[in-house]
Amino acid sequence: MHELPPRPTYTAEEEATWQLLYDRQRPRLARSACQPVLDGLDLAGFESGRIPSLRTLSKNLDRLTGWRLERVAGLVAERPFFELVATRRFPATDFIRRRADLDYTPAPDLFHDQFGHVPLLTLPAFCQFFQRFGEAGRDANDADVAALARIYWFTVEFGLIREQGALRAFGAGLISSIGELTHALSPGVTVHPFDLDAMAARPFVTTEIQTDYFEVPSFEALTHAFERWARARGLLV
Ligand SMILES: [Fe+2]
Repeated sequence: MHELPPRPTYTAEEEATWQLLYDRQRPRLARSACQPVLDGLDLAGFESGRIPSLRTLSKNLDRLTGWRLERVAGLVAERPFFELVATRRFPATDFIRRRADLDYTPAPDLFHDQFGHVPLLTLPAFCQFFQRFGEAGRDANDADVAALARIYWFTVEFGLIREQGALRAFGAGLISSIGELTHALSPGVTVHPFDLDAMAARPFVTTEIQTDYFEVPSFEALTHAFERWARARGLLV
């Protein structure tokens, strides 16, 4: 396990971009995100006034769930990604979007990778699902990798969860997006019932805002259903 590099020196403008993103999104999350995301933001150590450090976040995750962060320069290919996740490591960038790209960044930056993904890595029930997801992908053939990528998309990136009867967001693509968080919980979208086969069969577009989402009943139910789904395909034993 290699040591994470030191926290980069961010410019004053980059620090101000973080503060703007954080201060805009945090109050919205209080109304729209599931409780484990809200708790996870605090447990992981996020704060408004300072861009986080991967080392600090990773140390806090390790203490809470045994997960760690790996610094990456950008998107990771599917197979190395499965290997990281199977061994309780999550790849994250540590650059921040330009001010001109405040609302949308084509390449995931630290507001997506850290603010979006890290909170749920403080939750053992989510971590259990995620590790099994990585294990299932290790030896998957191309068709199964495509199915896993869709399940990932409709859960880890854009998943909704029912909490005391109300739909709340947990996917990192929603947690880190001002526009899509509100959109996903608006009446204009289709929210499909929990069904991994349906997720695995539904193509997605990465360049446009989503029209279709899936809800999960709980992270425990997600883990159990995923185990069954992956075992039926010989991806887990
Ligand atoms: Fe992501």
